[in-house]
Amino acid sequence: MSARDFDRILVTSALPYANGPLHLGHLAGAYLPADLYVRYQRMKGRDVLYVCGSDEFGVAIMMRAHREGIAPQDIVDEYHPMIRDSFKRFGMSFDYYGRTSSDTHRETSQDFFRRLAEKGLFRLKTEKQLYDPEAEIFLADRFVTGTCPACGYEKAYGDQCERCGISLSPTELGHPRSTLTDATPALRETTHWHLPLGDLQPKLEAWIATHPEWKPNVLGQIRSWFQDGLRDRAITRDVPWGVPVPEDVAEAAGVDARGKVIYVWFDAPIGYISATREWAAATGNPDAWKTYWQDEGTKLVHFIGKDNIVFHCLMFPAMLMEHGEFVLEDNVPANEFLNLEGEKLSTSRGWAVWLHEYLEEFPADTLRYAMASTLPETKDADFSWSDFQARANGELADVLGNFFHRALTFAARHTDGKVPPLEEAAPEDGRTLDALAEFPARIGQCYETFRNREAVFETMQLARLGNKYFNDREPWRAAKTDFRACANTVHVSLQLCAALAVLLEPALPHSAARLRSMLRLEGVRSSEAGGGTGSIGWDEAGAPLLEVGHELGTSEILFRKIEDAQIAAQLEKLRQRAAQAQG
Ligand code: 2FM
Ligand code: ZN
Repeated sequence: MSARDFDRILVTSALPYANGPLHLGHLAGAYLPADLYVRYQRMKGRDVLYVCGSDEFGVAIMMRAHREGIAPQDIVDEYHPMIRDSFKRFGMSFDYYGRTSSDTHRETSQDFFRRLAEKGLFRLKTEKQLYDPEAEIFLADRFVTGTCPACGYEKAYGDQCERCGISLSPTELGHPRSTLTDATPALRETTHWHLPLGDLQPKLEAWIATHPEWKPNVLGQIRSWFQDGLRDRAITRDVPWGVPVPEDVAEAAGVDARGKVIYVWFDAPIGYISATREWAAATGNPDAWKTYWQDEGTKLVHFIGKDNIVFHCLMFPAMLMEHGEFVLEDNVPANEFLNLEGEKLSTSRGWAVWLHEYLEEFPADTLRYAMASTLPETKDADFSWSDFQARANGELADVLGNFFHRALTFAARHTDGKVPPLEEAAPEDGRTLDALAEFPARIGQCYETFRNREAVFETMQLARLGNKYFNDREPWRAAKTDFRACANTVHVSLQLCAALAVLLEPALPHSAARLRSMLRLEGVRSSEAGGGTGSIGWDEAGAPLLEVGHELGTSEILFRKIEDAQIAAQLEKLRQRAAQAQG
């Protein structure tokens, strides 16, 4: 739990760049963990708002547009809807999914920038940068190649040498060339706004010290940034794609704003605010965003991958602090990276599993479950198709599906498809119901503290408990000799099923809904965006939910087994992609 009380929770997931489809690495970092958290909190009945959107600016998108000979807007117009739709099919329950090319976002970012400029926070610095005289633009680091001063590699980029890995600045390259025109760039003076992170370090250190409860992997990275010493960061760029630097601000500073935009890492996190404003406008209460961003009772949580830690734990908090009207982060539970079949994920090397392709072949919930069970929460983790198959078959089908099937078919056959009374309960019946009562709090504690793997494991323990109880009670034997005992086993088993149909909602939202319809269990609160009014929420799931005499629905197969051939086909596809990428 957080150290303080709160009235509402505002959750964000890193805005994905709209320049390619989503892969499993994205999901494991910033998305699935957030959705688990949000759905759990909604089931707890808390006031939660969950926002995300597409990150549509940045040099990577410009580069790609340039390579393909199209406009950056064409790229984001293609990928924004694609990403949004795959998220939806995967079961991501955003209250709002926006995009940073929207008008609201431009205004919100410019207002934010203006306010910080007016407070005198920024520093203006004039430096020489490489300019392409043919294209008539300043060259972003990635648009310059040349010889690496460290290893002599001739195609090093302006920000990094891909051969020896050293970080570079474009002016350090030998024989620099523009990747746009192949022209030799010239040095030209340009002026940029800088965020004085160095000056803000003591303030940031004091604030981070108030959060000893953050994940050790996150605090470790932050400490090492502090140790190196934070440096001023340029927050404007001379590129034609981004949120324009507000003209009035430029004019007041005596700088020509033409061709200058706000750096993508300055505007992107403001995208969380823009998305909340758009959500508020869509609900008909345009001021509603302020409660989430400005009222002290808000708990703000950013879900991200570890490569985004510096931006979300230092740069954005510094911006929020200095702005002065916003709440600060309560937690930033960044995840480590997900590998694939023992190797680093790499889209350029074709080593990735794409979400939209996955969804054509398998159910969303199977991936949610398999991935939640192996999330890179404390260290890098591995996704393998054989683990996926083992979880699908050995856990979802054999443990969970099997327990439901047994309880429901047994009730259909022996208790007329209804919930029988619990009478003259045996000690084991009582013990099992007592054990059930402890699950919501135990699983909930895991979700609260971002231990999703454990949360999902504990949830499955309830189905394991159910199977063991059912086996030990041998109701098929009791049916012939002691009907009372048999009916009691059915009663208790069905109550465990009902609890599972609620507690599985964060991890398996699609399947949990089907489990509830198999049980004809109604009145359960929704974990979807907007919540709902059901009277049965997380805490209620510890007590028996089904009334005696309640008529059940019919059992259907929920989790189909995944065949070896399906797994072999996925591995083959991966190998072929990797081979193609090698050329
Ligand atoms: O790393 C990324 O994919 C970025 N697009 C994340 C942005 S998060 C936030 F700042 F918007
Ligand atoms: Zn090098």
